Amino acid sequence: MIYGAGERAAPGAMGLVSDRHTHTPPLREREGKPMTFGQVGLDPDLVAAIELSRRLRPALGRVLAVLNGKGGQGKTSVTANLAGLLALAAEQANSPRRVLVIDCDPQGNLGLDLGYLKPEDVPVDGRVPEGVLVGDDGKGLMTALQAGTVPHRLRNVRPWLDVIPGGSALDEVNGMIFGKTARGHAHRARLALAEVLATIADEYDWILIDCPPREINVQDLVLVASRAALVPVSFDQASRQGLSGVAERFSRAMTINEPLELLGVAMFGFQYRVGRKGDEVGQRRQVRAELEADLQAAGTDAPVFNSVIRYMPSVAKSCRDRGQLVHELEQAEGPKWWEIRAGTATGRPVPSTEATKVAQEYEDLAAEVFTRFSQLEPM
Ligand SMILES: Nc1ncnc2c1ncn2[C@@H]1O[C@H](COP(=O)(O)OP(=O)(O)OP(=O)(O)O)[C@@H](O)[C@H]1O
Ligand SMILES: [Mg+2]
Repeated sequence: MIYGAGERAAPGAMGLVSDRHTHTPPLREREGKPMTFGQVGLDPDLVAAIELSRRLRPALGRVLAVLNGKGGQGKTSVTANLAGLLALAAEQANSPRRVLVIDCDPQGNLGLDLGYLKPEDVPVDGRVPEGVLVGDDGKGLMTALQAGTVPHRLRNVRPWLDVIPGGSALDEVNGMIFGKTARGHAHRARLALAEVLATIADEYDWILIDCPPREINVQDLVLVASRAALVPVSFDQASRQGLSGVAERFSRAMTINEPLELLGVAMFGFQYRVGRKGDEVGQRRQVRAELEADLQAAGTDAPVFNSVIRYMPSVAKSCRDRGQLVHELEQAEGPKWWEIRAGTATGRPVPSTEATKVAQEYEDLAAEVFTRFSQLEPM
């Protein structure tokens, strides 16, 4: 099965076909058979990793990776905004469980969207205003990955929302994998994030993970820990290549994490163009058709989500400048650009009309993500 509950595709379609059935040792067939010298094809490290993954999976719950092997596809924006909206829903329901976001990117951009500081942003005198949260450049996460311990978290970045910050310390993941590979635990090493999450997952209803665009080993750790993945895709052709890159990552992760599924593809950063009846036209319509054809050829029933995040750089810039999510910007009090131009107000403008539209698109996407996740087979 590829990418989820769909029919098996013709082998080789777009390179999206999972090869897990050829790589995964047939555990059940071998169970009960005594190990003999000379037996070939059974890698004990891989078998142990699959068994551990099966044991951990039920405890991990709703872990969603946001992934695309290309840069600038909206991974961080989508992760932050979905997490913020899911946390808001948890708050409104007074849920006993919270939402966790993990920044697995050495760039550590998630802090820009959520408004916590990077260590280098802290003034030289080290004094941080009360209530302001500071990331640790990924050191806490890296330490936890190496030792399998409880990771350092920024608590209450928003009500009901915690964060494990990322940053340059995650560059050490390659060295960690290399070291464990040298000791014969190449596959077991790939479960490092899953093991870390198992220590805290019972506190969370949702765990969302922002992936880096390039670091393949980090992407693998994330997919091995995840129940499903969401792939944001922008309008350029490279983003479709990003989708087939994701397929390669999937095939590899599924050698250990068999239940991994593609949740769906989210179109990000498209010019808002619809016809009179609200139907999609132009590039939006064309790219959707191409993506749907790609997914069908790959044999998955994962959807291209209906909600499209429109191209709105003014909103994106205000969000990152202010460390606010789009639904928060929508509600932010502040001067409007036309008031500033008319000289009736000063300060930085808040594009709240545009923000309202983008906020609605993120809300619709969050609802689709919620529904589709609920339809995945329970673990
Ligand atoms: N609706 C939007 N319209 C236009 N630009 C946006 C929108 N939302 C976010 N952006 C901007 O697009 C850029 C890329 O977004 P983002 O950082 O989320 O992508 P990414 O896939 O995480 O990138 P990277 O691969 O570098 O991690 C950022 O500068 C972001 O501020
Ligand atoms: Mg990013």
